[in-house]
Amino acid sequence: MGVQISPSILSADFSNLAGEVARIAPAADWVHVDVMDNHFVPNLTLGLPVVERLAAASELPLDCHLMIADVDRWAVGYAEAGARNVTFHVEASAAPVRLARELRSAGARAGLALKPATPVEPYADLLPELDMLLLMTVEPGFGGQKFLDLVLPKIRRARELVKDRDLDVWLQVDGGVAADTIERCADAGADVFVAGSAVYGAADPAAAVAGLRSQAAAASHSAWWSRH
Ligand code: DX5
Ligand code: ZN
Repeated sequence: MGVQISPSILSADFSNLAGEVARIAPAADWVHVDVMDNHFVPNLTLGLPVVERLAAASELPLDCHLMIADVDRWAVGYAEAGARNVTFHVEASAAPVRLARELRSAGARAGLALKPATPVEPYADLLPELDMLLLMTVEPGFGGQKFLDLVLPKIRRARELVKDRDLDVWLQVDGGVAADTIERCADAGADVFVAGSAVYGAADPAAAVAGLRSQAAAASHSAWWSRH
């Protein structure tokens, strides 16, 4: 799998979600859906009923990012609602291996998310249980925040862990990903890019997706981790 772009509808018009997905559908690989519960993060967005309707109405597969407490209890519901990928935070899960297995059994891809200060090394042995690792490049909770360069070495180390084990685990970055930061992410080892304000803040969201994709593709083509 090469570069994939997953625009976040957190920065879209919540009164017209299906229409907002249609604007990016020709250009994007996924639609990133941020679920927040005002406990795990200090913000509240949407939940299962909306995801269920969006999964039915969306032309793109849903990439659900759960920023919720007690996630072991709720995550499988999102897979059953039709999300193709369900990512949960390790900081919110009591049993991440069990949960990843449950998500896969429910037919979804299993993603594990790490906040900026959470190290990746303790989860190296979990990688075969996962389809994607999400390394947050801002503190989760809000769109439009400044990209944290301090996460770049962790992206690099995560790519090394995946490469050493010869796994097909995607590495996603989320937060502050835009034209001025996406190349650094791709160069470090990311291959799935979430962008909210950089896409929905643009006059032409589909063109913004295409622009980000070509930047990321060029940067990953010459990156250390993609050379053979
Ligand atoms: C933030 C969310 C992100 C958010 C990114 O906690 O997880 O998906 O939409 O927004 P930007 O791209 O504007 O930083
Ligand atoms: Zn997100």
